[in-house]
Amino acid sequence: MERNGERRRTASSGKANGRLEVRPARTLPQSPAAERNKRAILEVLERVLPASGEVLEIASGTGQHVMHFAAALPQLVWLPTDVDPQLLDAISRRRDAARLPNVDAPQRLDVLESPWPLRRADAVVCINMLHIAPWTATKGLLRGAAAVLPSRGPLVIYGPFRRPDRPTAPSNEAFDASLKAKDPSWGVRDLGDVRALAAGDGLRFEELVEMPANNLTVVFRKA
Ligand SMILES: C[S@@+](CC[C@H](N)C(=O)[O-])C[C@H]1O[C@@H](n2cnc3c(N)ncnc32)[C@H](O)[C@@H]1O
Repeated sequence: MERNGERRRTASSGKANGRLEVRPARTLPQSPAAERNKRAILEVLERVLPASGEVLEIASGTGQHVMHFAAALPQLVWLPTDVDPQLLDAISRRRDAARLPNVDAPQRLDVLESPWPLRRADAVVCINMLHIAPWTATKGLLRGAAAVLPSRGPLVIYGPFRRPDRPTAPSNEAFDASLKAKDPSWGVRDLGDVRALAAGDGLRFEELVEMPANNLTVVFRKA
């Protein structure tokens, strides 16, 4: 996982000064980007999430975000999900360590699959997935979120975007090129395309929040 100069380093063994550096086998993976952006994202969530209910997190990654949000917003129940079994294991171990009563056991959820393995969520949150997945994942996210949200339920998406109304930041252009070099189906998404698709799924655009490092938080609500 990486974004916009915020590269994730996973724990591993390696050679340091010619000596073998051994780290604990079960170290939890850490995303430096998640550590950097979790407070700013929480500020938005505090405003836009419902007062109570269940929040579904899509593409939870290491689980750092969901633990941070759940500790800060204990009146909400949080359901972390991901498609990657290794990350699901990491989220599970992080949840055991955090002992938060309002975080459910992580579930496998692939946004490309339909229907999703749950019927309803009062809110859906997705951080830094759209650009590190094919465009079909954006389609799957919007279609799936629209299917599980109640009327007025929010979908909150965070990440880098191209905007129709202004030039793309050079850092996001470089990031886009590096993503496409790894996988041509990846790339920084056009916010206009995402909004058009969301509207077709019955998700009304509500708000755009400028975030640090040329990222955006985009809030939609089910009509
Ligand atoms: C850059 S990481 C972001 C993780 C976390 N949200 C964060 O910000 O630290 C991208 C995540 O998208 C997940 N992902 C990719 N394709 C997916 C799919 N089809 N369904 C669900 N999750 C997916 C990956 O497993 C990974 O956890």
